[in-house]
Amino acid sequence: MQKDANWWRHAVIYQIYPRSFADGNGDGMGDLPGVLSRLDSLKELGIDAIWFSPFFRSPQKDAGYDVSDYKDIDPLFGTLADFDEVLAKAHSLGIRIIIDLVPNHSSDQHPLFQAALKAGKGSPERDMYHFRDGKDANTPPNNWPSVFGGNAWTQIEDGQWYLHIFDSSQPDFNWDNPKVTEFFHDVLRFWFDRGVDGFRVDVAHSLIKAPGLPDIEEISTSMTGSDSDPQEEKPHPYWGQEGVHDVIRGFRRVANEYEDRAMCAEAWVLPLSKMAKWVRPDEYHQTFNFGYLSAPWKQAELRKVIDDSLREFGGVGAPSTWVLSNHDVIRHVTRMAYDEVPKQGDGIGPDYPQPDEARGQRVGRAATAFMLALPGSSYLYQGEELGLPEHTTLEAKYREDPTFFRTNGERVGRDGCRVPIPWEADAPAFGFNSTGKSWLPQPENYRRYARSEQEGVAGSTLELYRKLLKVRKQFNLGMGDLKWVEDLCDETTLAFDNSGVRVVANFGSPIALPAGELLVTTQHDLTIEGVLEHDQVAWIRL
Ligand code: NOJ
Repeated sequence: MQKDANWWRHAVIYQIYPRSFADGNGDGMGDLPGVLSRLDSLKELGIDAIWFSPFFRSPQKDAGYDVSDYKDIDPLFGTLADFDEVLAKAHSLGIRIIIDLVPNHSSDQHPLFQAALKAGKGSPERDMYHFRDGKDANTPPNNWPSVFGGNAWTQIEDGQWYLHIFDSSQPDFNWDNPKVTEFFHDVLRFWFDRGVDGFRVDVAHSLIKAPGLPDIEEISTSMTGSDSDPQEEKPHPYWGQEGVHDVIRGFRRVANEYEDRAMCAEAWVLPLSKMAKWVRPDEYHQTFNFGYLSAPWKQAELRKVIDDSLREFGGVGAPSTWVLSNHDVIRHVTRMAYDEVPKQGDGIGPDYPQPDEARGQRVGRAATAFMLALPGSSYLYQGEELGLPEHTTLEAKYREDPTFFRTNGERVGRDGCRVPIPWEADAPAFGFNSTGKSWLPQPENYRRYARSEQEGVAGSTLELYRKLLKVRKQFNLGMGDLKWVEDLCDETTLAFDNSGVRVVANFGSPIALPAGELLVTTQHDLTIEGVLEHDQVAWIRL
């Protein structure tokens, strides 16, 4: 692997959701041997790094975000030796690997939690988590809700309650206890020693809870604590507590013991001015930009979130990241097929109005082409290079997301974006494996999105992504600077220059394509030459 202390500043990082990328042993669940067999295709795509969602030992109550052993691979996905092989091959291809760290909570099956249950009230074992007596015999210690629905407290036999901001199978660690810090520093070193290039840190904004665990004034199950104005900063007893910065600095000190490592926070913290504090020079290297993910495909909103991001992150010397899809949100080609979508985590089911697929494809491709030209690092979610839509008609009987169960199906949850991805149109399970098994059923329309249908096909989404990534690298756009081209910007057009490339996005009626060599465009069905149609993006060499 070539040395580069700044790789994360400009990298395109591809998220592998191990359950659904490729299945080597045919049991219907993706695994590391499956990943190994498909790594070359990621090299061809042109990404710089992979982020793996959890593959650690886990009862899989929240698809692996409930870890029972942080230093081992779950047999569902393979072995540590399989991981070493994937890492070695990725590195030989020039691809870095970051993995997930889940420090807010463990599985309830983790030995530390099991020991806490046994040890009893007031014990040091219980102090690794948040155990409390209730307000009275049947009332939990406070009014905190679980993000997945229902209450954030579960009562155990001796009458005490334990805290879980997510599912009851995911008890929250007590980060005021230095033993928790020690435990996770050891986990970081274990994987850094093995050679991983970094971590994505799960719900990094919830580790510290306000002293005394006070009631929340305004109940919301959103990850920011507010369903209303995302720019409004409201004090919240567990989202974005100031004390978390000490935890981050501790992580950073460990990362700094090694060369070229990076950590990215999953922090749904808004406004951006607050989130930027997370990436000060001695804190995380980067943080997901969920403000950008949540912005609609609209000229003014996009320009604002880009300006705010570059200003706020730039203000602390950090690059911004950009992201449109991941395993927790409705895939962006489907989101963009609607004027309005259900809120994050709620998902789309068969009873919801179905998407306008053509609109979603058009806008989704444009949104990606726009994003990949921005300076900074970009995250892609597996399958988006195929234009893969959300599975929006998944039947209730297949649902696995705890949100579905904790809300009695009222919020269908996130399974629709986690369905195994299609590789070959005519193979079993569309090439996900050779047996046809699939832990979530693939919808029939995935056939036409299969990689085999797009490879070498001019104008396909796969070829578009390849071209975008190639040109991005050629012009080093990730390390560039953005300058709006005011003469071309108006209510329905955005244009900026970055490193000798002019990027134009059209949100309204057709406009004349600015002069210059057309490097890449989303408009494969170009009918009138020299014109950029609505919801299309072009990259032009200056
Ligand atoms: C955020 C993860 O991305 C999500 O999938 C998970 O359910 C929660 N954190 C809890 O770990």
